[in-house]
Amino acid sequence: MDRRLKANRENWDDRVAVHTRSQFYDVEGWLQRSPGPAPRELALLGDVGGKSLVQLQCHFGLETLQWARAGARVTGVDFSPVAIDAAIELSKRAGLENSSRFVCSNVYDAAATLKGERFDIVYVTIGSLVWLPEVRPWAKVVAELLAPGGQFYLFEVHPFTNSFDADGVHLVYDYFDDPNAPQIWDNDETYTDGGALAHTRSYEWNHSLSEIVQSLIDEGLRIGALLEHDWTEFQHFPWLERDVEGIYRIPLGYPRLPLSFTLHARN
Ligand SMILES: C[S@@+](CC[C@H](N)C(=O)[O-])C[C@H]1O[C@@H](n2cnc3c(N)ncnc32)[C@H](O)[C@@H]1O
Repeated sequence: MDRRLKANRENWDDRVAVHTRSQFYDVEGWLQRSPGPAPRELALLGDVGGKSLVQLQCHFGLETLQWARAGARVTGVDFSPVAIDAAIELSKRAGLENSSRFVCSNVYDAAATLKGERFDIVYVTIGSLVWLPEVRPWAKVVAELLAPGGQFYLFEVHPFTNSFDADGVHLVYDYFDDPNAPQIWDNDETYTDGGALAHTRSYEWNHSLSEIVQSLIDEGLRIGALLEHDWTEFQHFPWLERDVEGIYRIPLGYPRLPLSFTLHARN
């Protein structure tokens, strides 16, 4: 494995223990509330009852399992064995072990690891693409995993926001990234509350919106929706304000910028 991905995997292995105990992910509250997928996701994907869904980079399975609650047969893929163990454990605690499975694999190897299996829905959400040096081989995997007539759903951080420093004020990073020039971080904190990480080094790559869209088009996907949002799901910048629904927005009176985006496609 690429040494940068190996460092990322060690970093993510450490994050699992912190995240599963964090208020940010609130696993106990999630088990009590038993939420399904977000209404905006259901509106795009429709009835998933009886359909097969694979989430790439599923972390410890919280989002994947929400689709099992909506009736899908779900598979989660992540390269962190610690995340996969935590996801299996969570599926049991949620009583969803019969409609879910979790597989340890580098996302670039997912189609091979799943031995040519194809899915009605390929699902990728926020905080995934920035860990990948290149999107073209990732788009190829997405296309290989899709069953004929299948749907691809992507909800991600808007890459424009990754050009800002953590303060969300200063423009410091290239929007157009280079696979050989990642952003290198040495940070014992993660994006949730909780303890420190032992493996502090991580590598991130920004991918422009056109790079993401074009790589999917080139793999034969037909994009039906591309939506840029002026809100996001987490406190990306300190000046964002949390609304009553728990969504983070730009304060009134300030210029509206894209903070996240949704893409929906079919093969
Ligand atoms: C922020 S999570 C995304 C899932 C979800 N949106 C969430 O917030 O829980 C990012 C996940 O990507 C995984 N990941 C990073 N690089 C990967 C790779 N090359 N192959 C497979 N998984 C990878 C990490 O282990 C982590 O679980």
